[in-house]
Amino acid sequence: MKLRSLICSILACSLAFAAGQGNRGSVSAADIPHFQEHGTATQLIVDGKPFLMLSGELLNNSATSREYMKPIWPKLVEGKLNSVIAGVSWAQVEPAEGKFDFKIVDGVIQDARSYGLRLILIWFASWKNGYSSYPPDWLKKDFERFPRTRITGGKNIELLSTLSDANRDADAHAFAALMRHIKEIDGQQHTVIMIQVENEVGVLGDSRDRSPAADKAFAGPVPRELMEYLQKNKETLVPEFRKVWDAAGAKTSGNWEEVFGQGAGTDEIFMAWNYARYVGRVAEAGKAEYPIPMYVNAWLYGFGRPNQPGRTPSGGPLPHVMDVWRAGAPRIDMLSPDLYNDFVPFSALYARNGNPLFNPEGQAGAEGAARALFAFGGHDAIGYSPFAVDRSAGSDPNLAGAYTLLSQLAPLILEHQGNGTMSAVLLRPNDPPQKIKVGNHNLEVSYQGPRGAPPAQAGQQAAASSAPSAAAIFIATGPDEYIVAGSGVSVKFSPATPGPEIDGLGTVEEGTFLDGTWLPGRRLAGDDTAQGQGFSLRDRGIQRVTLYRYR
Ligand code: DGJ
Repeated sequence: MKLRSLICSILACSLAFAAGQGNRGSVSAADIPHFQEHGTATQLIVDGKPFLMLSGELLNNSATSREYMKPIWPKLVEGKLNSVIAGVSWAQVEPAEGKFDFKIVDGVIQDARSYGLRLILIWFASWKNGYSSYPPDWLKKDFERFPRTRITGGKNIELLSTLSDANRDADAHAFAALMRHIKEIDGQQHTVIMIQVENEVGVLGDSRDRSPAADKAFAGPVPRELMEYLQKNKETLVPEFRKVWDAAGAKTSGNWEEVFGQGAGTDEIFMAWNYARYVGRVAEAGKAEYPIPMYVNAWLYGFGRPNQPGRTPSGGPLPHVMDVWRAGAPRIDMLSPDLYNDFVPFSALYARNGNPLFNPEGQAGAEGAARALFAFGGHDAIGYSPFAVDRSAGSDPNLAGAYTLLSQLAPLILEHQGNGTMSAVLLRPNDPPQKIKVGNHNLEVSYQGPRGAPPAQAGQQAAASSAPSAAAIFIATGPDEYIVAGSGVSVKFSPATPGPEIDGLGTVEEGTFLDGTWLPGRRLAGDDTAQGQGFSLRDRGIQRVTLYRYR
């Protein structure tokens, strides 16, 4: 994956360069938005510099009207976002076959730019939450040419079949036109920095498409490209997928049920392959015009509960079929979870095998603020993005506070991503203290909650379960020095290297970063550090702490 991303970014730049020659919208190879490795992390490079996306996603259709968006832009700025995810409707931009109208897209790009915001555009096309509500009417009416998915009982549903070249090519054609247009109007300014291709794809109401074309493909051999990918990457396949393949005998050829066994799980693998192939081709057509990073997002099942293909979209980029997506859609740069629940375990499942973590839909408010800190510090995330920011931004001091803090810290976070000197915790009120090692010291981090909140006690479970999580980022800026940012935590330090075995608190100071320079505020000791016995960060902020050792 790492190598692939690197090759992709190099390819992205050279393609962009080649594609830009002699065009009005000519694009400089150096600054087209792209992904780049940084240690073990992947970063999004915008205008030649790494960029942390402090984002939010608009409601699905807000950006289909420039007028509607007018009062929303200032709220996004007030909410301290530096970027926003906005939808583009296929039906709106291709009202008649082959006739494109990008007036709205132009307006949205222009307005975002005038507010200093970057854009991530969602290509709402063949599928949105499984179904096909965004394709244009001319396509939807032509049901013979553009076939639907069939589910058990012989019923067709309003969900375009992945097994149709006509569906795929119509989508790819429109997407290529969109990307060509974006390059023309934005190839120099890079207001648009990334694209989400489709939204939460997968079959609903059944575990797979049962149209004649799908039945035929399902009875046929597993495609050679998938078999070769699995064999080549056998040792690094995600363990839950490897287990399924091994359980059916790790065969290197055969039909889908021979290779993966019988049942809904195999149907899901089959659909994952077909969605990946289709979406991958759409992305490829877009990248041939303007190759900025592209990702897909997933509608998830409940953690710890068995996934039930068909109840959540079957075939989407879920963690256990990540490898199938990578094999089928190599031009997709990132698989991203829409994460409303079970943030910690799902973040870990997506931050595997070099997949950068980005949560394009999630929570806002105090919980979102804590999650954003954890994602950037704990998993080298490239972005965080609560859903429906047009409603919340401007009246969400918690998220705005976290984004203010993260934008101050961004240079330091970006420097430390991928080099093992940064970590983070996310704690629920009743969680036990969490132990992590950062730099030369061990940290035991406990939940404290906001200042003034009583500590959670037995019998207060209900109150505790609705209280927001606490989170903090720890960055080792020297052998015995840390920058700690977040809120609601206390920390016990102890040495992790040979020598005197007790850590004492040296300098503890509040402060802010201005353009990467630390500006100290209050210096803390006495009551604020429990007479030197304890470090805590109750209110949201940043502290610098140095340690000394004694025995
Ligand atoms: C998930 C979808 O991806 C979004 O577009 C949005 O409709 C939300 N669900 C609504 O909660």
